[in-house]
Amino acid sequence: MSISHYTVSLHYDRRLYRQDIAGSIAHARMLARAGTITGEDADLIVDGLKRVRQEIEADSFPWDTSLEDLHMNIESRLHQLIGPAAGRLHTGRSRNDQIALDMRMYTKEVIDDTVRALRGVQRALVARGQEFRDVVMPGYTHMQRAQPVLFAHHLLAYFQMFERDIDRFRDCYKRADVLPLGSGALAGVTYPTDREFLARELNFSGISANSMDAVSDRDFVLEYLASGATCMMHLSRMGEELVLWSSREFGFIRLAEEFTTGSSIMPQKRNPDFAELARGKTGRVYGNLMGLLTVMKGLPLTYNRDLQEDKEGFFDTVDTLLATLEVFQGMLSGLSLDVKRVTSLAAASYVLATDVADYLVGKEVPFREAHGIVAELCRYAESQGKELEDLSLEDYRRFSPHFDQEVFHITARSSAAARDNIGGTAPDRVAKALNQAEKLLEEDTDGH
Ligand code: ARG
Repeated sequence: MSISHYTVSLHYDRRLYRQDIAGSIAHARMLARAGTITGEDADLIVDGLKRVRQEIEADSFPWDTSLEDLHMNIESRLHQLIGPAAGRLHTGRSRNDQIALDMRMYTKEVIDDTVRALRGVQRALVARGQEFRDVVMPGYTHMQRAQPVLFAHHLLAYFQMFERDIDRFRDCYKRADVLPLGSGALAGVTYPTDREFLARELNFSGISANSMDAVSDRDFVLEYLASGATCMMHLSRMGEELVLWSSREFGFIRLAEEFTTGSSIMPQKRNPDFAELARGKTGRVYGNLMGLLTVMKGLPLTYNRDLQEDKEGFFDTVDTLLATLEVFQGMLSGLSLDVKRVTSLAAASYVLATDVADYLVGKEVPFREAHGIVAELCRYAESQGKELEDLSLEDYRRFSPHFDQEVFHITARSSAAARDNIGGTAPDRVAKALNQAEKLLEEDTDGH
């Protein structure tokens, strides 16, 4: 590699061409309205920029890495296409406010894409939840079977995580939605600059209040990266559960063939590679956040070339996150649940012990005491190699005289049904939560 390549960003900032051209078109129009350039020149510039866009989209644009970045490539091509009028486009503008503008426009767009993709995953969660709305499974704490929960309740836990992610991305949108154009290199511009017009043309709700801040602020990128890191953490946790659940040991689910791969040596294998890769790619997404935080930490005001390093990690996070969300929507939609197995395990291994203690509380035994009694009972059952339901009433009575026949009415289903408070796993609550989630998905169609 020759050192002249060191400063080149063209291979990655190319992806901002639509934003860059839209920004330039608005800027040319603004300059003409203010009388800084003539209407004819503005028309030439706008037509030329549209041709540039067509060329890029038709893959016939003559990219030239000796011109370093996207902005210089477009301006140079504009010269070739329309002649000297091209030289008037950069009046009252710097690449510093130009790139800040491109990045903000791009961020707003990808937030819309991200929210849409998150909605897709949520839709898959709710659809599978509705399909299996009555299925009870063991819920875990410390990776130990703890209490029965509805499978749909488990899925809706992720729905809530993704709801918070959407909230975070939308919050980030507000910060990205501020127009930096008109800040010049750092101090503002000497030409009449109608920033309100620019904001309207480019669909920005706000206008930056300080030119020095505007050209060197990348908080909106950091916020996307942080929200993306949190979202990948959620996806990674789900990926981990899908890996566990699809193992022989759990045997809860089977992933669709297209989301597993075989082993090159072991013919029997169906590896959950997609879920594993999602878990693994989370590392990169975290790294991208730390990378940009570190780039920013020592920067004096205002623009410094270090800021060019805001892009690759950001684009990588966007691509990784959008791809992972698409994979999860498919993986969730395609998995099959072993209803018999999860149902049978929902009551096994003393998962109903809390309910047995609650039963004694119903007989006026203080909870602490009941807890101790049932702990003894479980230890005894375990020593006999039995489940609680295999014990006789006499066995129960050896631990407390308060037990009677009704203790055998405790089932995984009754256990779930008893958790009938806001946020609990009672089937009626979960049915309502599913309906609410469905309604939210129907009504909230706005991207950001
Ligand atoms: N490629 C640069 C970046 O991404 C564009 C701005 C360059 N400005 C400058 N003064 N060199 O940050």
